[in-house]
Order: sequence, then structure tokens, then C-alpha cells
Amino acid sequence: MPQDSDHGQTIAAQGSRIDAYVDRYAARAAGMVASEVRALFAVASRPEVVSLAGGMPYVTALPLDTVGELVADLVARRGPVALQYGSGQGDPHLREQICDVMRMEGIEANSDDVVVTVGSQQALDLITRIFIDPGDVVLAEGPSYVGALGTFSAYQAKVVHIAMDAEGIIPESLAQTIYALKTAGSPIKFLYTIPTFQNPAGVTLNTARRQQVLDICQRAGVLIVEDNPYGMLGFDGEPMRALRADNADGVVYLGSFSKTLAPGFRVGWALAPHAIRDKLVLAMESAVLSHSSFTQLAVGQYLATQPWREQIKSFQVLYRERRDAMISSLEALMPADVTWTRPSGGFFVWATLPEGLDSKALLPRAVSERVAFVPGTGFYADGGGARHMRLSYCYPEPDRIREGVRRLAGVIEQELRLRDTFGTGSSPDHIGVDTPGPDLA
Ligand SMILES: Cc1ncc(COP(=O)(O)O)c(C=O)c1O
Repeated sequence: MPQDSDHGQTIAAQGSRIDAYVDRYAARAAGMVASEVRALFAVASRPEVVSLAGGMPYVTALPLDTVGELVADLVARRGPVALQYGSGQGDPHLREQICDVMRMEGIEANSDDVVVTVGSQQALDLITRIFIDPGDVVLAEGPSYVGALGTFSAYQAKVVHIAMDAEGIIPESLAQTIYALKTAGSPIKFLYTIPTFQNPAGVTLNTARRQQVLDICQRAGVLIVEDNPYGMLGFDGEPMRALRADNADGVVYLGSFSKTLAPGFRVGWALAPHAIRDKLVLAMESAVLSHSSFTQLAVGQYLATQPWREQIKSFQVLYRERRDAMISSLEALMPADVTWTRPSGGFFVWATLPEGLDSKALLPRAVSERVAFVPGTGFYADGGGARHMRLSYCYPEPDRIREGVRRLAGVIEQELRLRDTFGTGSSPDHIGVDTPGPDLA
């Protein structure tokens, strides 16, 4: 039998496995699993399905011709720079512009403390890479952003959820969890939080709690990672003051142009205290050497020549109309006992099903009724969230949102009839008893 000498394994044996390398991956690869959102994209992107699943910004609303001209002009005028390697930290002029953007959320920062990253997702990866050893604890809201949970899992972090309600993280729950973990000798590396227009819950940490969260973490010596891609997309008035605005030493702030401009540029950033910034630059260099000069300069050019504040306002109007379409149709169509959050910005509503219903079990029927959502379990690291679902209103037109909610309400009604006939077969909503689920109604 022919021998695969490099791996000391027979070709026949390789051929009989789905993955011939299954026993050779590093332990951390076991934590790399497809997100619930990704697994859904294939079905949800069929035109007949109303997708309330994905979190794609509505880039069609951008002045695409203008962006095209700007990009062409960039290559024609500054091609040798735009198409060349850049620095690990990012384009200096763009970093200055990023400081102008952050000023709108009360942040006074030096561009020297900004690292430009490949979306804020890469900033999340880098920050996890420099802080997490296997088994280290990351605190995160329950529920939390699925992409962050994926990163934490890939680095073998232990995620401990902090309870939240309609006003964001519950400070008492944060303080108690920190105390319990410290007493048990578990090293907490940071608190990961999305305080404004949270993904997936759509809730915002209120002003009083912001100070409490900062105080609790400062007293306990817990670094805060503030992830804020939606902060500028509020529907009522001025942007919320960022946590970072009130603590420059204890907060790493992550920002992104994905929702205020376009995710296709893949430009995000981290603003970090000096020493952490140094490590981030080194981690960035080892990951990608340097970010794309081309997309950084394109974003810089957009900020310098286009009315970007006006563009953000028009996104706010567009998403507010879609939020209204979703909330009004939920109110009109959902069976009693289904509850949901009322976001004042961002992309998402978090819905809670009546006792005995399981959102994951409901999904196949929903898809066959041509509507998709993301089951709540994807947003918990501990198996919780079964009675919840994330509904996004960012991408479909208002009429499609209404139609999607109508279809979903029909599926839930049918499921309730089954429950009433046959009783509940679903598992308890939350497995981690020490980390209660959110009371978001
Ligand atoms: C909370 C949160 N953080 C980070 C990201 C990543 O965004 P990007 O890498 O496009 O900047 C997303 C994307 O949806 C998000 O919702």
C-alpha cells in the first residue's frame, strides 16, 4: 500500500476520512466553528426568503458613483503610494481623521494611540491574541456579538456572561461576577462590551450605568474593551458619550467604518493606552504585515472630500424607518407573550419567545415559510439563549420587513398551537445558572 511518508499515514486511511488532518490541528482549532450566522447565509440569501438574519449595512444608499470616482482618482493621482505597503500602525493622516470621528462621541485622543485594523473584527482578534492564554476569562454581556465569541473561542478563552436588561449591563451583576471569579482565583483579562445599540440585543447602556461600569472595572483592575461600530447610528439626537471618553487608561476602544461607510473597505481601528498600542502594532505586523494602503487612503479621501456627517444622518433616517417598520409590525402581528427590545439605534431587535418554544427548533419551519432569523443560542458561549432570536432590520426594505414579520408571526403561532397540544419538549432556556439570561422585555 502506498505510504504518505511525510505524515506516516496511508493514503487509503486518508481517503477514508472526511478530514485527513483531523488529529493534527492545534488545540485552538477545535474552538473555530462556523457561526450560526454564517451557516444561515446560504439559505437566507435566496431571493424568496426575507432575511431578518444578517447584519449587512445597506450600502446601496451610498453615493456609489462618487465613491467610484474617488477610488479611480486615488489610483490615478496617488497610485504609487496607494498600491504600496504601508506601516503596521496605519496611515498617519487617516489616524488623525479617525480622531475627528471619535470626537463626536466625546473622545479626545492622540492619533499616535490609534492602530488601523482590517475591520474592527481584526482589532478584536489582535486584542484577544495579546491578552488571552487558554482558560483566561473574558467577561461579556449575555447575549454578545457572535463574531467576538468566535474569536474568544478560537483563543480558548472562557467567556463568562454578565446579565443585562433593557438598559444594558446590570452593574450589580458585573460586580458580583468579578468578585466571584476573583475569589475563585480565575484571571479576568477584560470585559468585552458593546454599550451602544448592542449586537444582538439592540439595547444601550444608560448614562448612570456607564459611570458605574467604569468605576467597578477600575476598582477591580479589569480592562474594558469597548466595541462601538453602531454608536453613530442613533435615531434620536446626538451620539452617546463613549466609555473611553471618561477613562483613557482603562479602556481599549474599537471603531469601524463598516456601518457608517461600507464594510467592503475593511477599515476599522483600535484606540489603546500606549503600552497596549505597542503590542497591537506588533501583533498587526505578524498578522498582515501592513493593512491595505489602498483602502485606508480611499476612506481618508472619502472623509476629506465628502459630506460624511450628512451621509451618516441619511443612514440614521433610513435605519429608523426600518426599525419603525419592524416594531410596528411586531406590535400588530406577534402573538401575545412574545416580547422584544426597542432599539434607539443600530441594526437589531432581540425577541423573546413564550415559555416552551425554542428558536433553533423553529428555524427550519421559518425558512420553509421563507423568513430567516438568527437563533439566540449563537450569542451565548454557554448554551443559553434558546428562547431568543435576533431580528435585523438593517437590510430589507420596510415592506419586506413587514412581510417577514408576518411570516414569522404565523410560524410562532403554529408552534404555540403545537405546544398547547403536545406540551413543551424544549430544553430550559439557560444552562449556566450562575449567569442569568437577559431580562430584555
Ligand atoms: C459588535 C460588532 N463588532 C464588530 C463587528 C465587526 O465589524 P467590522 O469588522 O466590519 O468592522 C461587528 C459586525 O457586525 C459587530 O456587530
